[in-house]
Order: sequence, then structure tokens, then C-alpha cells
Amino acid sequence: MSTLPDEVRRPYDDAVNPARPRLHILPPSGWLNDPNGVCHLDGRYHVFYQHNPDGPTHGNVHWGHASSADLRHWTDEPIALAPTPGSGNENGCWSGCLVDDDGVPTAVYTAVPDHAWNAGVAVARSDRTLREWRQDPVIKVGTPVDPTIAEVRDPFVFRSGGHRYAVQGAGHPTGDPQLLLYRCDDLDAWEPLGPLLTVDDPVAASIAPANIWECPNLFELGGRWVLLLSLWRHVDGTHDLAGVRYLVGDLVPTGAGLRFVAESGGTVDEGPTFYAPQALVDGDRILLWGWAWEGAQRTAEEVAEAGWAGTLTFPRELSLDGDRLVSRPAPELTGLRSAELDVTAPIREAAFEIAAAGPLELLLVDPATGSRATGSRATTVRTDGAARVLVDGSIVEVFADGPSATSRHYPTATSHWEVSARDDVRAWRLG
Ligand code: FRU
Repeated sequence: MSTLPDEVRRPYDDAVNPARPRLHILPPSGWLNDPNGVCHLDGRYHVFYQHNPDGPTHGNVHWGHASSADLRHWTDEPIALAPTPGSGNENGCWSGCLVDDDGVPTAVYTAVPDHAWNAGVAVARSDRTLREWRQDPVIKVGTPVDPTIAEVRDPFVFRSGGHRYAVQGAGHPTGDPQLLLYRCDDLDAWEPLGPLLTVDDPVAASIAPANIWECPNLFELGGRWVLLLSLWRHVDGTHDLAGVRYLVGDLVPTGAGLRFVAESGGTVDEGPTFYAPQALVDGDRILLWGWAWEGAQRTAEEVAEAGWAGTLTFPRELSLDGDRLVSRPAPELTGLRSAELDVTAPIREAAFEIAAAGPLELLLVDPATGSRATGSRATTVRTDGAARVLVDGSIVEVFADGPSATSRHYPTATSHWEVSARDDVRAWRLG
């Protein structure tokens, strides 16, 4: 039950746009990209996100905010951070994390004064409701003077050996990526410790090829250190967000600093629309949210008319199977299952889950256009073995044996879904 005043509730009728997810985190209107500042504080989960409240395009980036007691029902909260004219974040409050600093929730984020390549780290502090923010105008650390580094961003704070550190994404649009390490026991005094990882690490170089490593996440899982990297690549004068990789390895002390030494790795999610995830170390489990952008089938006109773009994924729980990173829907999400559905009939639910014991095909069909939403009899999802598929409006998340797969497919007022499966299959309405 929302306790918020009307102006911060979702001001639209969900029924008007069947493509809009209802159970996922997305802003009331405007743009969303990366999840930020994910935390579990005083019994509530909080997820912030990159947000343009003025329209469905990237720009004027704020931190939007939603919270939940159970990972199932999300309440829109007031915007947390906003660019401030004349301050280091004048051109955007870009991605970062949240630290419980001796009881003071502190956002550690990327302040963009003008262009991304001058970005620095800034902090903002709140009371424990996370609704009253004080943005500190002082830039704690800027872009290093180093010709091989043109862009830095996305501080992620972690602890090791009794100290607090931050890892920051870095690189050069036409050069190599790297990660920078800082000690930040005092969040007002950052000590640069050099690189945590460069392409001199052969495993990282082959598994995570990029020009800039964005949104690093570093956490312990199953006795190993796991690093997540989002791959920014320069392509033909523009750039490509080329997916998210994980590396499994160790943190090795070197001089005053640390190096990450990778042993193996792989793809976090093999869908076409998954990027910049953020992990929450929540007791003995790791939860993960990613950003799912709008797919190519949704035109710029449709986005402008709807006034919103981008959604976060459902929260996922990570585990290691040997050296393979596995993501599963957070166990809480099975609590969203309600009426069981007949999978032999067309499915017209806004949100549903399918659990299949063997290969499965899911089609989005629109009889009004005579087409299968993305072309004639286009397969929306096909799995080779047992899988769970979660659909909410236009976001489809598949969890099978390999990496998860996030994609976007756009239901209309006249479309329905069709399931075909060889083995046992069940489906439920969600929410
Ligand atoms: C990743 C990213 C981050 C940056 C943010 C800006 O999608 O480019 O590196 O902080 O988005 O919105």
C-alpha cells in the first residue's frame, strides 16, 4: 500500500498501454537507464535509477527512486538526486552506488559537470527514509591526468581486508578499458591506488573486449570474487553497448593497492536488451537488477507518444555453479503467481510466467495486423530445455540452463501470446 502523496504515484492508467510493464521498476514517465544505489535498509529494498523526468530520451539525468518491502510490490518515491546548476553535477547525476556510512545512507555517484570525460565522484547524504537528500557540491576525485584514460565513471564501493575501496569504470573511446581503484575509508578523502584491472589480464581481455568498462560490480560469491563489466565499444564514429560479462577470480594485494586476477568468465545475460546491472550484497545472497532498453520494434514515434522508455529487469539471485555464474528470478517472485492459465489457449494476460520441463516456444501474435507482432510467425522466445519465462508487458525474461536472456516484445490491444511445448508446462498470471 503506497503511503505517498498523489503526485508521486504513477499518474497513468496502466490499461492504456499493454506494452508497459506493471510489476517492474520504471518511472511514472520519462526515461530510465541503469539501476543505481540498490540497497536493503531498515527492512525495505530501495532501487534508484538513471532518470530523465522531462522526456523519454537520455539527458538531464537524475536519480529516480522506488522502494519495496518484499521485492514484489514497488512504490514510486520522490526523485532523489538532481543536477544542480553551477555545481559539479550540472550536466547529470550519473551512475553510482549507495553506502551505509556509519548509519548515514550515502550515494557515491558520477557527477558530470559538462562532458562525460570530465566526470568525477560526488556524494550525497540522506536520512534513513532516503527521501531527504543533501548533495555535497565538492568533487571527491576527478578524471586522472593520463592520456590513456579519457572517461571515468560509475564508482562501486566494496570492502576487503578491513578497508573500504571503490572501483571505477574507465577507458578511452578509441583505446583500452581499465578499472581504477581508490581507498575511501573516509568518503571525503579518496586515495588513488592505480588500476585494479587492465587488458594486460589475458582472461579479461578476451572475455570482456571493450573501449570502456562501465558499471563495474565486485563482490564475493561462493568463496570467489566476481566482477561484472558492461562493455562500451566505439563503432563507426558512434558507440555500442555490447552486453555484460562476468569474471571469476581473486583479489591480490599489490603494494598499497589490489589487483583483480581473472581465471574464467562468461556472459551474464545473452538477450539483446540487458546492460549496466547493479548487484546488492544482501546478507548471504546477491541480488541483481539490470536495465532493459526499448527494442528496435518500438519506433521513436511510439516512444514519444507513450512518454516513457526503459525498464529495470526483475530482481535476480546470483549463484556460482563451479565457475559459471547463474541467475535465477529472486525466490520472492514466485509469490506473484496467481491464477493458473491454460497454456493450450491464447494468453491475454498483461503479466504471466511459464515453467516448462522441456523445450518451449512462445509467440506474440497480432490477428489485427495478420502478423506475428515482429513478422509472420516470428518466434518471440525459444528454449532448448527446461526454462522459466517471465513476461510483463513488453519485457520477456528467460531463465534456462545457460545465461538468462532479456528481450523486449510489444503486445498491443489486439495481440495475444501462444505457447507450444513438448513436455510438461504450466503457466500463471503474475500479480
Ligand atoms: C551505462 C552508463 C553509465 C553512466 C550512465 C549515464 O549505461 O553509460 O556508464 O554512468 O549510463 O546515464
